[in-house]
Amino acid sequence: MHILITGAAGGVGRLLVPELVENHQLRLTDARPPPDPGGRAEVVVGDLTDRRLAARLCDGVDAIVHLAGNPRPGDGWDLLRGPNMDTVTTLLEAAGDAGVARIVLASSVHAVGGHYQRASGPGAAPVSDNRPPYPCCRYGATKVFAEAAARVYADAYPLSAICLRLGGCRPAPPHRGWLDTWLGVADLGQAVRRALRADIRFGAYAITSANPRPVFDLGAARDDLGYSPTEDPDAYADGLPEGPSTMCRPRMGDRR
Ligand SMILES: NC(=O)c1ccc[n+]([C@@H]2O[C@H](COP(=O)([O-])OP(=O)(O)OC[C@H]3O[C@@H](n4cnc5c(N)ncnc54)[C@H](O)[C@@H]3O)[C@@H](O)[C@H]2O)c1
Repeated sequence: MHILITGAAGGVGRLLVPELVENHQLRLTDARPPPDPGGRAEVVVGDLTDRRLAARLCDGVDAIVHLAGNPRPGDGWDLLRGPNMDTVTTLLEAAGDAGVARIVLASSVHAVGGHYQRASGPGAAPVSDNRPPYPCCRYGATKVFAEAAARVYADAYPLSAICLRLGGCRPAPPHRGWLDTWLGVADLGQAVRRALRADIRFGAYAITSANPRPVFDLGAARDDLGYSPTEDPDAYADGLPEGPSTMCRPRMGDRR
């Protein structure tokens, strides 16, 4: 498959490219130069909100993995709008016009983070994917926007869209605050590979590793994508320092 990966120089992009480069033809793009995986990928540097660049990037690819964005939940609209909303609309428009078949979009568990406090209380059930989006912050709201925009294009064009509500992705959880939403690299790779192939027109799925005390229900990802995480965050728990949750606490709405 010929795949465009946006945000390839970022933290998630650097982890994902090695997961895909063996079996796919990759076109990597970012505003800053991504690492070159040994001459095995085409690299294009530029601003994804540039329509002409987006058209060029989408030309001839079968699928897109859209990672370009601002991943910081504490940021305000001025820092979020361009990376998380303008890149999405520019890319969707270009992908639709170019006849790209599939976009896999990096959403976030913050798109459903408003459910988190209830779900993480004593005896609470995991947050179900079937619940409506409930962002906990401006960042989460930009991800809900991205999901909604992708759905519009999945209806209007022969472009199917799979939104992955990614948990915190690192090779290992850096502290205990990451344990309940951590996403390991092998599971990230599996989720994206399955999303690229799934026979689904549109969907949005929580994606974390195999947490023994899940906060986000992975049932929809299992059923629709065949996602079956293999990495257990508890394998890293011994000796990990304490740290704050990766989720917003309190939710913005609690600050009134
Ligand atoms: N890091 C995580 O654990 C995590 C968790 C959930 C969701 N996500 C989402 O995954 C995606 C990647 O996250 P990350 O941690 O790799 O972020 P990152 O900041 O490390 O990388 C994002 C990349 O996007 C690029 N970018 C931003 N705006 C651009 C533009 N207009 N044109 C071209 N390139 C642009 C940046 O240069 C950067 O290299 C983001 O959409 C983020 O919201 C990340």
